[in-house]
Amino acid sequence: MSLTFYSKTSVMHLLSLVFLLILVVLSPAQASYSGSSQLGKSPQPHHRELVSRSTSDCQELSSVFATGDISTTSDTSFVAISPVGSYSTGPGGLELFLERPSGKITTKDGVNDKVATGATVNSTFTILYGRVTFYVSGPLVPGIVTAAILVGDSHDEIDIELLGGDSTHWQTNVFAPSPRDHGTIYGVFSGLEDYAHGNAEDPHAYTIDWSPQRIAWSVDGREVRALTPDQTLKNSARHYPVRPMRIQLGIWDASSPQGTAAWAKGPVDWTKAPHKTSAMFKNVTVDCPYVRKRKAV
Ligand SMILES: *[C@@H]1O[C@H](CO)[C@@H](O)[C@H](O)[C@H]1NC(C)=O
Ligand SMILES: *[C@@H]1O[C@H](CO)[C@@H](O)[C@H](O)[C@H]1NC(C)=O
Repeated sequence: MSLTFYSKTSVMHLLSLVFLLILVVLSPAQASYSGSSQLGKSPQPHHRELVSRSTSDCQELSSVFATGDISTTSDTSFVAISPVGSYSTGPGGLELFLERPSGKITTKDGVNDKVATGATVNSTFTILYGRVTFYVSGPLVPGIVTAAILVGDSHDEIDIELLGGDSTHWQTNVFAPSPRDHGTIYGVFSGLEDYAHGNAEDPHAYTIDWSPQRIAWSVDGREVRALTPDQTLKNSARHYPVRPMRIQLGIWDASSPQGTAAWAKGPVDWTKAPHKTSAMFKNVTVDCPYVRKRKAV
């Protein structure tokens, strides 16, 4: 009995020693990765694996949506989660389609009885803090929404939305549900932004800059709104995303339910709207200004 006890203890000692060693080996590797990425150099190959397991969760990326960047399987940076044919890639970037639902569509009490499928694309990676710029244009069809958002599995969101029924503005929003809320709190943290030139149908560069201290939204390099964690207090809880999120691009039909349709200036009037419309995502860039930097020695 006592022999077994001793050998167990020494195995545990050995294990904690190995664990400590791993910690010592891992920490400087992470630090040197962040450091070298600051200088714009590529990380050493043997550091890559360590970084993917590290806590700083942001990898720089720039995509013009070449065919190799997106597919319907998840071995590319972006994955289409809407049906085949709902998107296409080309020299102009990624085009997301929205088609009129087939058959008869009845409008009653401010909603349509059929809603188009639209198109949705996820990034297969997540980021925890970072700066994402979307170069996008959306169709000017009332009731149709073009969205460039960050979204988490627990329904956290940081949004940029182009409403087809309001050509001179774009919308910003944030969600981070709290257990203290009774249902989703819509409209509380939303913002209505303008353009210095042009409208939603022209391509613009929209940026979400998400750090632990603030979320800032910009259009064409001009900051239009910033929100700090304290400014998201509601029901005695912060509604500030602090967990990893995916990039999600989409075009959707906001013709139902009633509140959504009213917000989007819908429902879509299919007697006037083109039967096939699209949003164009020319490119997307992820910058990582908030990864942990090497401490000065
Ligand atoms: C797309 O992203 C959302 C939000 O993170 C997630 O809930 C959903 O599972 C994702 N779908 C795919 C296929 O990646
Ligand atoms: C995205 O497209 C715009 C417009 O063509 C261009 O100015 C910008 O440099 C592009 N960004 C990237 C990362 O390709």
